[in-house]
Amino acid sequence: MSTVKPVLLSGIKPTGELHIGNYFGAMRQQVDLFKSGNYQCYIMVADYHALNFIQDAAEMHRLTQELTMAYIAVGLDPTQVVLFKQSDVPAHTELTWIFDTITTMPYLSRAHAFKDGETKNQEVSVGTFNYPMLMAADILLYDTTIVPVGQDQKQHIEYARDTAEKFNRTFGETFMLPEPHIMPEVAIVPGTDGQKMSKSYGNTIPLFASRDVITEKVMGIVTDSSGERPQNVYAIHKLLKSESELASFYEEHRGKYKALKEALIEDLDTFIAPLREKYEALKNDPGAVVRALEDGKQKAREVSEKKMERVRRAVGVA
Ligand code: ADP
Ligand code: TRP
Repeated sequence: MSTVKPVLLSGIKPTGELHIGNYFGAMRQQVDLFKSGNYQCYIMVADYHALNFIQDAAEMHRLTQELTMAYIAVGLDPTQVVLFKQSDVPAHTELTWIFDTITTMPYLSRAHAFKDGETKNQEVSVGTFNYPMLMAADILLYDTTIVPVGQDQKQHIEYARDTAEKFNRTFGETFMLPEPHIMPEVAIVPGTDGQKMSKSYGNTIPLFASRDVITEKVMGIVTDSSGERPQNVYAIHKLLKSESELASFYEEHRGKYKALKEALIEDLDTFIAPLREKYEALKNDPGAVVRALEDGKQKAREVSEKKMERVRRAVGVA
């Protein structure tokens, strides 16, 4: 008997080198939920979202290729997951326009990304202002049930829910309301300086780092000698081993920061090595990425176009 599985959808913008914060905060949940077999998964390279930040064609190509390889390397099997590029599916931008017509400027002005830009006195682009509507379209086109993301994306999912409700009230029941899926214990992965790990802060450990890079990054972790343990080392270590596994080791090596860092290098390398191998193998097989995205494009177009036909009828343009 074939049953219809609930839909999981998520995406990441191809805007830079992926780091372990992206993995533990976002990608790992996507992979675990995919592997549970309980969901029909759609995973997207959000290149039109990235266009707000990356305005160089060669760079956009490279980052898109890298993110696609990363998704496959961490375990999202493109024969079972619909792995696609946002720009390959025209329904996303078409639906964004329709959502724009039922959304007010004051409502969008409350979005964090817009407010941050305003506080920094930046001249925020219309694309950044409208970011939540494109994301709502991404999610709502596929009748998504859950959206696994990092904590910082929670507000965007609320925008998607509000937009679905508003559309349904205005034009009749069309969209399902999605739920965010956020893992609280790794909601914010700290970087080598203890602040949130982010490519904008230069405090990352790259997800496919070589042993040498891992060593350099770990040796650069800022150690705070005031507490019982070097907190910044421990916080990253905790992502790889349970607290009970670490407790005795940290107790035995109290104050010996070099030994603790060496252990962290070892554990990071053990975790990263198999991912790095898959990633390197994909680099030598560019056809695999092209095929994966081509398959994803066909499937995502098919599903989203059906939904759009319904949407066009609901609003009265078809
Ligand atoms: P960055 O902060 O490096 O620019 P992005 O904003 O591109 O990262 O984030 C991509 C995904 O990874 C998002 O879903 C985000 O929630 C998650 N993420 C990024 N950094 C972290 C972190 N330090 N801890 C947890 N999740 C993170
Ligand atoms: N805005 C997300 C981020 O910055 C990326 C994204 C785009 C996304 N569309 C999405 C995430 C749809 C989940 C669902 O990380």
